[in-house]
Amino acid sequence: MHHPTLCAVAVALLSALPGVQAGLYTKKSPVLQVDAKDYDRLINKSNYTSIVEFYAPWCGHCQNLKPAYEKVAKNLEGLAKVAAVNCDDDANKPLCGSMGVQGFPTLKIVRPKKGGGKPIVQDYQGQRTASAIVDAVVQHINNYVVKVEDKSLDNFLADKEKPKALLFTEKGTTSALLKSIAIDFLDVITIGQVRNKETKTVETFGIEKFPTLVLLPGGDAPHIVYDGEMKKEAMVQFLSQAGQPNPESPPKSNNKKDKENETSKASEKSKSTSTSSKASSATAGSETETATQEAPVIVETALPIPSINSPEKLIKECLTEKSHTCVLAFTSSSEDEKAKKALESLSQLAFKYAQGKRNLFPFYEVPKSNEGAANLLRALDLIGDVELVAVNARRGWWRHYDAADFGIESVESWIDAIRMSEGVKKKLPEGIVAIAVEEPTSAAPEASSEAPDATEAANSEEATPVTPEASGEAASDSPEAEPTQAADSTAEPETAHDEL
Ligand SMILES: *[C@@H]1O[C@H](CO)[C@@H](O)[C@H](O)[C@H]1NC(C)=O
Ligand SMILES: *[C@@H]1O[C@H](CO)[C@@H](O)[C@H](O)[C@H]1NC(C)=O
Ligand SMILES: *[C@@H]1O[C@H](CO)[C@@H](O)[C@H](O)[C@H]1NC(C)=O
Repeated sequence: MHHPTLCAVAVALLSALPGVQAGLYTKKSPVLQVDAKDYDRLINKSNYTSIVEFYAPWCGHCQNLKPAYEKVAKNLEGLAKVAAVNCDDDANKPLCGSMGVQGFPTLKIVRPKKGGGKPIVQDYQGQRTASAIVDAVVQHINNYVVKVEDKSLDNFLADKEKPKALLFTEKGTTSALLKSIAIDFLDVITIGQVRNKETKTVETFGIEKFPTLVLLPGGDAPHIVYDGEMKKEAMVQFLSQAGQPNPESPPKSNNKKDKENETSKASEKSKSTSTSSKASSATAGSETETATQEAPVIVETALPIPSINSPEKLIKECLTEKSHTCVLAFTSSSEDEKAKKALESLSQLAFKYAQGKRNLFPFYEVPKSNEGAANLLRALDLIGDVELVAVNARRGWWRHYDAADFGIESVESWIDAIRMSEGVKKKLPEGIVAIAVEEPTSAAPEASSEAPDATEAANSEEATPVTPEASGEAASDSPEAEPTQAADSTAEPETAHDEL
């Protein structure tokens, strides 16, 4: 042992925190510290592969592993989760027991199952060096990246609505970085990889250097060539214009036990803030960082959703050519029971997403007394007292919430279907924007010139739109179906760094 003073250190730590069994890792450590309460959410339900160290603070091998393990955590930031569970903490003992931990440290690699279900847990029994651990974890990162070849390009492009991105590269293997991006955008943006020798595809997109990342925002929008650094954060930010990345873990449940007592609540909150900010630097770019800074002021109740009270505002927020998806709740009176229920469901959902630091399209209440609302409803042929509608003016579709109950579960599944681009989209009738414009004629040009999306505006002129004639939504929805991925856990030599 190199550290004769370790016992003394441990004792000092313990006495500094009476009643609490101090863990091995400090708050500032890059290692994600997980307890029994958080394990299911942070590890079990994550789309990321994790390595979890089950340890006891007094164990010498655990202390020896610490520097290497922290190095692993830094190295894999944004690519995989590196976590530790203190099995000496009474609250964690059942978890350590159920995971079959019999000695310390025990390292387990937890890999999410494609398509959901119980994750696959494997013991790591290799060398306890940073590089050996990193290599092992990287090999267990799920691969949702579709390998696209000239002959499969049409198939990849078949679902026109769904946003996609293509990385053009000279490499035959898929980097951990690209895999992690595909995980971030699972079911949001389909990520593909094209090798330079696929000349037809390379020419179709006019690619001249490798690596090059191209975003196909979906619909008829032209493709956008990324010209920033090939670093995860910047790339994720670039792709986010076509859809928000998934949260790093599911949001904290906002009910029952969590509300039990204020003190544990408060400390829990600061903990979750620190863990998510740690991983966010790689996962979600500046958006998440802002959200993290704001975390302490989150109010513990859902807030009412904003209301749109003028036709001009309705156009500006939701009905310009550039408008992304908006969810509109048309109400006759917000005192109406059905309206209350619908608004309550939406505000709870908005809150849930905000808590999970996920961005969702905006929700608005639109009182029917607003003339813009009346016109829009007439055009869509909707006559209910309360109507829930999602509109995407940019892509020219809308969806109607058909159920009658407006409860949170049914509204949420409707919202999920929109997020996943599942189910039926109706075509917006011609002139929806114009109809809403009728009254205040000046509003529309002004609003649409606001171009929320500068990149897109800048590119729309010179870029070649890719419009395959393929049909249907069925084909490329599931990258899992791609046979090239079957063997991804095997031999590929890969780097865990920002290399594409
Ligand atoms: C992990 O999730 C599975 C279900 O997917 C569940 O059966 C299991 O108990 C969970 N494990 C832990 C430790 O929470
Ligand atoms: C995991 O991926 C699914 C899409 O398959 C997504 O809906 C979900 O939000 C992701 N979960 C987390 C915790 O990111
Ligand atoms: C706080 O939580 C602990 C453990 O969950 C519980 O035993 C205790 O009764 C709670 N205190 C209050 C005031 O609810």
